[in-house]
Order: sequence, then C-alpha cells, then structure tokens
Amino acid sequence: MAQKIKIGIVGVGNCASALIQGIYYYKNKQPEDAIGLMHWEIGGYKPFDIEIRAAFDIDARKVGKDVSEAIFSPPNCTTIFCPNIPLIGTKVQMGQILDGFSEHMKNYDAKYTFVLSDAPQLSQEEVVNILKENQVEVLLNYLPVGSEEATKFYADCALKAGCAFVNNIPVFIASNPKWASKFKNAGLPIIGDDIKSQVGATIVHRILVDLFKKRGVKLEKTYQLNTGGNTDFLNMLNRTRLASKKESKTEAVQAVTAKRLVDENIHVGPSDYVAWQKDNKIAFIRLEGKLFGDVPMNLELRLSVEDSPNSAGVAIDAIRCAKLALDRKQGGALVEPSAYFCKHPPIQFTDDQARKLVEDFINA
Ligand SMILES: NC(=O)c1ccc[n+]([C@@H]2O[C@H](COP(=O)([O-])OP(=O)(O)OC[C@H]3O[C@@H](n4cnc5c(N)ncnc54)[C@H](O)[C@@H]3O)[C@@H](O)[C@H]2O)c1
Repeated sequence: MAQKIKIGIVGVGNCASALIQGIYYYKNKQPEDAIGLMHWEIGGYKPFDIEIRAAFDIDARKVGKDVSEAIFSPPNCTTIFCPNIPLIGTKVQMGQILDGFSEHMKNYDAKYTFVLSDAPQLSQEEVVNILKENQVEVLLNYLPVGSEEATKFYADCALKAGCAFVNNIPVFIASNPKWASKFKNAGLPIIGDDIKSQVGATIVHRILVDLFKKRGVKLEKTYQLNTGGNTDFLNMLNRTRLASKKESKTEAVQAVTAKRLVDENIHVGPSDYVAWQKDNKIAFIRLEGKLFGDVPMNLELRLSVEDSPNSAGVAIDAIRCAKLALDRKQGGALVEPSAYFCKHPPIQFTDDQARKLVEDFINA
C-alpha cells in the first residue's frame, strides 16, 4: 500500500472542506474516470494518499469536532459533493486567533460569519507539539485574507515542528526572501503564495492577456471584478485587509502583459459580497486593446465557478509536490510548483512555461 502524506490544516473553512471531500471522493475512482484532476499520481502518491492528522480553527462550531463533521458546519457553505465521510479521528483544535478574526465579522448573522470559540487558545509550543506528535509532514494555511500575524505564527510552527508549508493565502511567505531562506535553512519545502484556482479568474485573465501579447494586440486597459457569498468574500469587505490580496491578484496579471499597465489602467480585486451566491464566485473580466491599424477592440467575459473545489483541484497537487520535495530532501521555496499553483510565487512564469516546469519537477 502506498505511503500516506500526513497533513495539518490551519482554517477548516470552505477550501479545507472541498479538499477533504475530494480526498474521499477519489478513493472510489479509477484514473480513467476521475474527472477534475490535473494529475492522478505525483511521485507515486494518489489523490487519496493524504491523511488529515491535525486541524486548527477558532470557530465555536468547529473546535472540538471531528474534522469530518467540522467541514460541514456553518458558516461553511460550499457544495457537498462527497457527503459520507467517515469519522477521521482527528479533532479540530483551538488555534491562536491573532488577526485571523476581523472585527467587522461581528456585524453579521452567525450563519454567514465566524463565531469565536471560548476554548483556551493554544500556545505556539502546544501547536508545535501537536504537529510533532501527529507526525504532520505538510501544513496547509487556509486562514482568512489579511491574517498576517496568524500566518507568520503558523509558518513558524511549521518550521519548529519540521513540516513543509503550503501557503494558500496572500500573505507573502514563499515569495518573501527572508521567510524562504528560513525554510531553506531548515531543509523544509514551501509552496506559495496565494493558491490559483483550477480554472479561476486569475488563470483565465492571464491567458487572455498572454493571447493579446502573442497576437500583437496592444492591451490598454483591463479589469477583473469578483463577487461571492462565502466568508472569504465577507472577510474581504474590510478593505484594510486587502493590500496583499490586491497586489497578488494584480501582479499575477501584470506579470504576463507585454508592457506593464500604469496602475490606473488595471483593476483586479474582490469587488463585493452577495450572500445568496454562497460559494459561487462570479468574475467579470474586460480587456480593451488595439489591433491591426490601431483599431480598437474589447473583450468581455463572465466566469461562474464554485470557489472552493476550484482551489482544491490545485491544492491536491501542491500537497503532493511538497511531499515529493520532502522525500527528495529539497528545502526552501519550490519555484516551479509555486509558479504553476500560486498567484504570487517567488518567480513568475507564463502558465505554459510554469506547467512545463512543474512537469519537469515532478518527473525529475
Ligand atoms: N478559490 C479559492 O477558494 C481560493 C483561492 C485563493 C486563495 N484562497 C484563500 O484561502 C483562504 C481560505 O479560504 P476559505 O474559502 O476556506 O475561507 P473560509 O473563510 O471558509 O475559512 C477560513 C477558516 O479559518 C478559520 N480561522 C480564522 N482565524 C483563524 C486562526 N487564527 N486560526 C485558525 N483558524 C482560523 C475560520 O474560522 C474559518 O474556518 C482565504 O484566505 C482565501 O482567500 C481561496
């Protein structure tokens, strides 16, 4: 039987729910009928060769529950595509709140927002011990956008416990040379920052910008407006938490333009919260440019996707690449997987280049 990858999860929200559902969903599939995966096998690991050994959250409706129950507890609202998950035997533990909880989240009905648990918060030493005792190999960060301090707290826990780190959120760790060198010195791999979705607004926007470049069309102005109704979008109503999210999403598009657009001609970001959309995200993308003879053209696109399974389709590969690097004793920021899987990697490539690099990394 294949060895299992032992993971820990920070933030048992919608993305964690989709990922864990997927681990069980693909157990009963054969490679030829498994839909929705970029890779059936990476380094000998199948999508279901992943075990959840530790989980941390701060919501009263999740802390203390088995992970298999916590993922279906409010305010999680993503699609349930794998309802019958057996007891996993891992209970969600109270983490450290730090800046994971934004004050404005108190102003909404409990079914839409986070409800703080009054369980005692774990110290860093306790979190590290839990990771060590459960032999966690890869720690995944799924905290809300704007959790700068909390992300650094858990990244430090990963370093102290000897875990690889997959940073799914736009707090700059893998792309921050200081943090990347801490992981390098510890001999631990890190993938980040800010996971791209399988077919999400970022990759579609980048591919269209790349198309303009390849076909000789001058891109003059572009926007990407996004709406959704999950806690990720609710949290992002506090605009002070958005600086790095905006930078990450905007740079992902700027990185593939023929010539950088001046700031006023590019607008990319989360735009509004629409409660009834739940985990459905809608992106409106517009590109304006000039083609042959300086003649103007524009392109409008509307993308509708379930946000969390869309990220899980990438996370399931990121986890396996992190484990592959652990097996190879490769520490530091993993340039190739980060470039293909994340919006704000240490080094940006076009998606075609990044895909090739990641295949080379897997097959090395
Ligand atoms: N397609 C996508 O869904 C996608 C893409 C890129 C990035 N992301 C990012 O991934 C992150 C997770 O997204 P989500 O939709 O699962 O969000 P979510 O709001 O559903 O989940 C966040 C979870 O973190 C918990 N939490 C808050 N503070 C905490 C703390 N200090 N310690 C432990 N847990 C804490 C919350 O209680 C909640 O369960 C977000 O930052 C999001 O922007 C998502």
